[in-house]
Amino acid sequence: MVLWLGPDDTLYLPHWGASGGSVAEAYLPRVSPNRPSEAGFLDGQPLAYPAYGMSTFKEPCLVVQTEGGARGVRFEFVSDAIDGDSLELQFQDPLLHLQVTLRFRVYAVLDLVARSVLLRNLGSQTLLLERVLSAALPLPPDQYDALTLHGQWGREFTLHQQPLHPGRLTSGSTRGLSSHEAHPWFAVRPRGEQAEHHGRVWFGSLAWSGNWLLVFDGERNDALNIVIGMHPFDFSWRLGPNESFESPELVCGYSEAGIGGASRLLHRFEETHQLPANHRERPRPVLYNSWEATGFDVQVDQQVELARRAAAMGVELFVVDDGWFGARDHDRAGLGDWTVNLQKFPNGLRELIDEVHRLGMGFGIWVEPEMVNPDSELFRAHPDWAYHALDRTATLGRNQLVLNFARPAVREAIYSQLHAVLSEHGRVDFVKWDHNRAWTEVGWPEQPTQQREVWVRHVLGLYEVLGRLRAAFPHLLIESCAGGGGRADLGVLRWTDQVWTSDNTDAADRLTIQYGYSLAHSPRVMVNWVTDVPNAQTGRVAPLEFRFHVAMQGVLGIGGDIAEWSASDLASAAALVAQYKQLRPLVQHGRQYWLRPPAAIGPCGVQYVAEDGAATAVMLYQVRGLRGAGARRMRLRHLQAERGYRREADGVKSTGAALMAAGITADLVNTGDRHPTLDWRSSVQVWRAV
Ligand code: GLA
Repeated sequence: MVLWLGPDDTLYLPHWGASGGSVAEAYLPRVSPNRPSEAGFLDGQPLAYPAYGMSTFKEPCLVVQTEGGARGVRFEFVSDAIDGDSLELQFQDPLLHLQVTLRFRVYAVLDLVARSVLLRNLGSQTLLLERVLSAALPLPPDQYDALTLHGQWGREFTLHQQPLHPGRLTSGSTRGLSSHEAHPWFAVRPRGEQAEHHGRVWFGSLAWSGNWLLVFDGERNDALNIVIGMHPFDFSWRLGPNESFESPELVCGYSEAGIGGASRLLHRFEETHQLPANHRERPRPVLYNSWEATGFDVQVDQQVELARRAAAMGVELFVVDDGWFGARDHDRAGLGDWTVNLQKFPNGLRELIDEVHRLGMGFGIWVEPEMVNPDSELFRAHPDWAYHALDRTATLGRNQLVLNFARPAVREAIYSQLHAVLSEHGRVDFVKWDHNRAWTEVGWPEQPTQQREVWVRHVLGLYEVLGRLRAAFPHLLIESCAGGGGRADLGVLRWTDQVWTSDNTDAADRLTIQYGYSLAHSPRVMVNWVTDVPNAQTGRVAPLEFRFHVAMQGVLGIGGDIAEWSASDLASAAALVAQYKQLRPLVQHGRQYWLRPPAAIGPCGVQYVAEDGAATAVMLYQVRGLRGAGARRMRLRHLQAERGYRREADGVKSTGAALMAAGITADLVNTGDRHPTLDWRSSVQVWRAV
């Protein structure tokens, strides 16, 4: 990434990509590839951080005005400083008395740069920040395709590719939370370079759990300006004298190993830098979650029985989902009251916690702390604590309202309730932190000057509460959930250890959902459950083994009603859990290569391989086959070419070179049977160097 301070202190980013040496001047174009429309204009120029007030017509990163009406920002360069792997470039606008610090943290080994901006008001007037995006990423004139992830509840993270044309293509969220309908991740590649494993890809992931905006801004002469950051929608921030404001980080990078290469860089970043340090390296436990089995109808005896069966299956963490607290017999009451329901647990939670621990498992609970049901003690005492617009009725979503986490008193009340639950009943090892509705009527009429700041203050408040809990209970693992993968971003993954990927647990749909998720996030933070058939969302009936094989792609969980499982299913499940534990180091700590992405018909496959290439797990799937088209060669990746390898299940031998050149056959067609089974076929095989 080359930065150049040009005339008038304008900061350019003339090159971002392959490196051919360290003489920065060599990367500066002798002749601008993109002439502006007037000599004094900056349109089409590769600016590192365009602001409204510069002579550009680009999508800007920064819009500021004073209360007195002065508008527009002009940068004057002040200083540069390098501290370790971080570069800080400081500018200021002497008219606004605004200091702007552009930050670049370099992760050289990962080919990643984390960019952010810090604003500081050096004057005596309040400044109004109308837009503060994290970064602009210019690319030289060419034809590009954009890759983005979209979805909705039950269908998160579907990969979309579309050609970029002149004009703007935008994506983002204005729902309060980051990732249900669109995910704050993107990739761009030159049109025509389409392979999973090679080709140039520029990509980024925004570490923010609230509203966000991404614009692909196709400029004159086919230059591309990409900007991303907190969404300016309904946002305005009053920056008083001496106050500062910091944008979230954009983690961006470049790979020549296709979209798969890009994903592995982001995985490594999450695993080595972003995830909370205390559990970063810890293998994620196999969990059982009782939601699909018992819904709101939780009872101590029934949970103890589930826990015994789970333990016998090899489960390591038992989680009681919704329904254990307040008057929570259904989704119309109870949110906001985080005390144990004594009808369901007459002796408190301790009885169950002790039994779960005695069975050798960790214990976890579900919470949804940013929400309140109107039918709750909390709401009756503090109706103004939920977001509301003056003199308007608040719209319910899943019968609940969103608490104003921008208010310190709200955060304090919720934190102290959670603190009590986590400390008064014995050791709680795990929390699933949910968030089940998008925000509407996002107002705070009692605090009119801060009303448009709540979008940001809420998210910062969430991070603060998560941080306090982590400090108070360092052993606690926290899972982020928002009706599935509604808040699964790099920001929340600084404060939580894993993510519930989707409420859709249908094994066929999961292949697509998990593929998309895995482009942006590590298998170590992707939680997948094996649930009952027919599937609760789709009615499909997938074999038990297939469901397990799909769930093994990340953090394995079981979410079915195991009280109803047959003895033979329980025995098969125990064997599959044991198999997963063998593979877990490869899945959670290895590198992931999609050998063939999921397709509607035919086989797909994914490979997890140890860093040194000495062992690999290959997972193959076919939901629906086509007669005569089931067998496909899958060329393995990242093995040691000169070494011999042995397949664990049957002792078949090969070499790294052969496995990478000729590959293995995805043998998903059962040709031995009189009526070959083409559908729901899967296999998991492990190869180890000998
Ligand atoms: C959300 C979660 C589910 C479950 C329910 C409980 O939908 O995504 O896994 O926890 O809430 O109400």
